[in-house]
Amino acid sequence: MQILVAGGAGYIGSHTCTALLEAGHRVIAADNLCNSKAETIIKVEHIAGKDMVFYEIDVTDTASVDTVFANHEIDGVIHFAGFKAVGESVEKPLDYYYNNIVSTMVLSRACMKYGVGKFVFSSSATVYGENQVPFVETMDLLPTTNPYGETKAVSERILTDAARANPGFKVSLLRYFNPVGAHESGLIGESPNGIPNNLMPFITQVVKGKLDRLQIFGNDYPTIDGTGVRDYIHVMDLAEGHVSALDHLTEGVHIYNLGTGQGTSVLQLVRAFEEAIGVEVPFEIVTRRPGDIAECYADVSKAQEELGWTARRDIIAMCRDAWRFENSYSD
Ligand code: NAD
Ligand code: WQD
Repeated sequence: MQILVAGGAGYIGSHTCTALLEAGHRVIAADNLCNSKAETIIKVEHIAGKDMVFYEIDVTDTASVDTVFANHEIDGVIHFAGFKAVGESVEKPLDYYYNNIVSTMVLSRACMKYGVGKFVFSSSATVYGENQVPFVETMDLLPTTNPYGETKAVSERILTDAARANPGFKVSLLRYFNPVGAHESGLIGESPNGIPNNLMPFITQVVKGKLDRLQIFGNDYPTIDGTGVRDYIHVMDLAEGHVSALDHLTEGVHIYNLGTGQGTSVLQLVRAFEEAIGVEVPFEIVTRRPGDIAECYADVSKAQEELGWTARRDIIAMCRDAWRFENSYSD
């Protein structure tokens, strides 16, 4: 198939382009590079040993998106393009609502216009809010405490309504848990701007010496050791999940959790990193981060049964690959 990957230069998008090329698909990436670099596209081509087409465009711009659809016979779209920082979304709600929702509207309308029948969307476990773990796809969505989460819930709604009204439009809504790690080559990975918000890049930067010590946000949660529990998933497992979702996409709207189904606490991740790399991770316990929940992990049985997909890489591989990338890229 020929797949348009919106946000293809970004963290999850670039790994998915690699997986798509390796699975034999042709890839057109579209990205405005607001949170990524053009050289990532060249690295993806190098890893896969295949070329892809790249458009530096903003996918909220209807005319630019129209040009891409007019120039290529597209079979499916994977939509990664969006802003993703939860805290920033509270500061800049309108930017988040505009970018994340208008991009979904523009891309899905182009699919209607050009008869493109497959759409895979990057949603997030954040839409479950404070439901009871493990999170199951059939749960009612609970309001999230931030505009970012709302943009995901609204985009899911828009795509669901579009699919109901247009039977040829097949939609897969993928709810990611906590993507971490990097491609095994060390060539592509996650390189956040400024001080990282997320745990794994924070740990790698502490060990690299860029940051002093890890602050663990709270050790008084009702969890195995008092620290927050999350379902970390290797970004290459996540990437392969997208290929499976595309391959198995049938009529209607399908929602899948993409996680491992395993909860790991902050302290357990720190210890796993120390074991994987053979270093000590300096940390201190501080107060809880506002908005954090105690536990977040997936029920992954639906993706296993319907997509034949399961996450294969363990927490040690996630740490090792995150560290290899941290060590290999230059800022
Ligand atoms: P990322 O920022 O690395 O990638 C997003 C890419 O989209 C970037 O390359 C950026 O330049 C591009 N982009 C943003 N707005 C655009 C626009 N209007 N037009 C064209 N390009 C645009 O983020 P990521 O971690 O790869 O996340 C990809 C998607 O997955 C996002 O939608 C995010 O909300 C979702 N998601 C991410 C996580 C996570 O923890 N990383 C978890 C759940 C869901
Ligand atoms: C993980 C755990 C923290 C940093 C976020 C978004 C979510 C999704 C993935 C997009 C928590 C603890 C963290 C630190 C710490 N993104 N922590 N010290 O918050 O689960 O999810 O990214 O959809 O929407 O909210 O991920 O990596 O920030 O935190 O102790 O310096 O690590 O409290 O328990 P989170 P995270």
